[in-house]
Amino acid sequence: MIEDKERMISEVKEKITKLDNLKDVNDLKVLYLGKKGPVNDLTSKLKDLPVEEKKSFGMMLNELKNELNSIFDTKITELETKELNKKLESEQIDITLPSTKIPIGSPSILEKVIEECEEVFMSMGYDVYDGPEIEEDRFNFELLGLPKGHPARDAQDTFYVKGDELLMRSHTSPVQARVMLSKEGKEPIRMICPGKAYRRDDDDATHSHNFTQIEGLLVDKDIKLSDLKGTITIISKHLFGKDTETRFRPSYYQFTEPSVEMDISCFNCKGSGCNICKNTGWITIGGAGVVHYDVLKGCGYDPKVWSGFAFGLGAERCAMLKYGINDIRTFYNTDLRETKVFDRKENI
Ligand code: DAH
Repeated sequence: MIEDKERMISEVKEKITKLDNLKDVNDLKVLYLGKKGPVNDLTSKLKDLPVEEKKSFGMMLNELKNELNSIFDTKITELETKELNKKLESEQIDITLPSTKIPIGSPSILEKVIEECEEVFMSMGYDVYDGPEIEEDRFNFELLGLPKGHPARDAQDTFYVKGDELLMRSHTSPVQARVMLSKEGKEPIRMICPGKAYRRDDDDATHSHNFTQIEGLLVDKDIKLSDLKGTITIISKHLFGKDTETRFRPSYYQFTEPSVEMDISCFNCKGSGCNICKNTGWITIGGAGVVHYDVLKGCGYDPKVWSGFAFGLGAERCAMLKYGINDIRTFYNTDLRETKVFDRKENI
């Protein structure tokens, strides 16, 4: 047996040195260690041996198997490493080649302004609401003091989706009515709603049939116009700088009484007059007012108990002023050369 063992080991050692591929090594392994191989032949002899020989024969058989397995494993690892190195060499990456530049873009400026507003309002305890862009006439007009046939509807002419009851909302104010009705006149409200609005306007540098507003509504007890002024002053200072002043001019909306136009002092010329403020020193950023008695009542809030203020900011207008954009269409066409100007990140 000893001779068989030594002979087999040296045979395998000799044969294996001549092999240079994994398949041949595996074939050789099967030849010696497979079912029909010499090692198996020896194993089958074991059962016929007398008991006293069985132990030493068995031990030797194990040594033989271990030795052969280790010879094969070493060779296999050696060949695998060789193959891997060869592959790595042939696939070598040239790290000196210039990389492919992928433009990563940046957040939309309009979204940035909206997010800034959301943050400031949320810090004052406001909730951010969403509302449907396809709206019912009832919410868009009726509940806001604009019954059918009201002349002020002309200024808010929009796109109708179905008959004259379902339309693309002409402002974000219907969300005021929706939120008030959902609270059933029982609790105070502090909400803003940034969102898209639509009008049948001919598009030009300052008009777009699709634009964005930031609606705000606060309903509580003893709310006055001065609360609105304070709130608008905070947001204006945040958006346009600490020195910004606010001014209210009398105006008219059907859903507020009194109604105002909200102006901010011109951040560019600080009041002395320039082309941004058209030499007036002031820039209008939206409309606002004290929520109308009938609107509160129609939306389930008792006007003798509750009062509130509401406002609508033009989001594109704020972004245009802040970033010096002079055409609203910049936000809606897909010319990357224009939007890239406002990208704050470098392309890498
Ligand atoms: N919805 C108005 C518009 O689109 C803006 C506005 C004015 C909203 C006064 C308000 C408000 O909430 O109180 O022109």
